Amino acid sequence: MGDQRPIGIFDSGVGGLTVLKEIRERLPLEPTIYVADLLHFPYGPRYQDEVRGFAIDIIRYLESREVKLVVIACNTATAAALNHARELFELPIIGVISPGAQAAVEATKNNRIGVISTEGTMRSQEYLHAIKEIDPMVGVYQKACPELVEIVEAGEADSPRAEGVLRDDLSDIVRLGADTLVLGCTHYPLLKPAIERLYPGTFALIDSATTTASKVERHLEHSRLRASESSPSHEVLVTAVPQRFDEIAANLFGEAIEAEEVHIWEPQKT
Ligand code: DGL
Repeated sequence: MGDQRPIGIFDSGVGGLTVLKEIRERLPLEPTIYVADLLHFPYGPRYQDEVRGFAIDIIRYLESREVKLVVIACNTATAAALNHARELFELPIIGVISPGAQAAVEATKNNRIGVISTEGTMRSQEYLHAIKEIDPMVGVYQKACPELVEIVEAGEADSPRAEGVLRDDLSDIVRLGADTLVLGCTHYPLLKPAIERLYPGTFALIDSATTTASKVERHLEHSRLRASESSPSHEVLVTAVPQRFDEIAANLFGEAIEAEEVHIWEPQKT
């Protein structure tokens, strides 16, 4: 008999769906609960304390739903909350930064890695530390690209607007000769087609969705937490009324996804 409890996964919006997709493909028997905190989107420009508070409340909610494992499918929230959350909860909690850093160091041939992320992730310097911890000789070039998050959440990842912003945002990293680019925000894997069109063959693109899903698999295996029944349930919850969310989710999964609203916080009295 396997462990039928769900895996809890969250992000500020559609970005973490890239992680959810990889987890569902790699672990097809695992039930999942995904929370998109659209009420507080975007996390990137906010203070770390504030993002940490949102993340802790969401993890507490997921704990009340009896998940067996939490994946913080958001770089900004991983940077702000992972260490603190591991001190607070007994639940196993996995973030997206160290799997991405590991994959980037393995991929680079010229020891130059570019990292694009939100301002919050960049300010935290978590990628720099995680990469240097693995290999101090690697050069790390970071760039905050907040507009790209808005573009993806608006469903415009594969558009001329996305290409224009990418060209500006990546120019320094291209000039510095990085051969590896970490998509250090879970919204960014949706920009892969546009990046590959603009810079064909320039970078090994590191998408932490893949590396995080394999970490989740290893953890479930090692802790004997794998589910075993077929047809697992998948819940997608949003903390505020979705605009383009359902449509972007449907495109990503190739099937209709109906997000339900969940109230994690009491409505503010005005
Ligand atoms: N997808 C998130 C990340 O990986 C956050 C984007 C945002 O809310 O600013 O950082």
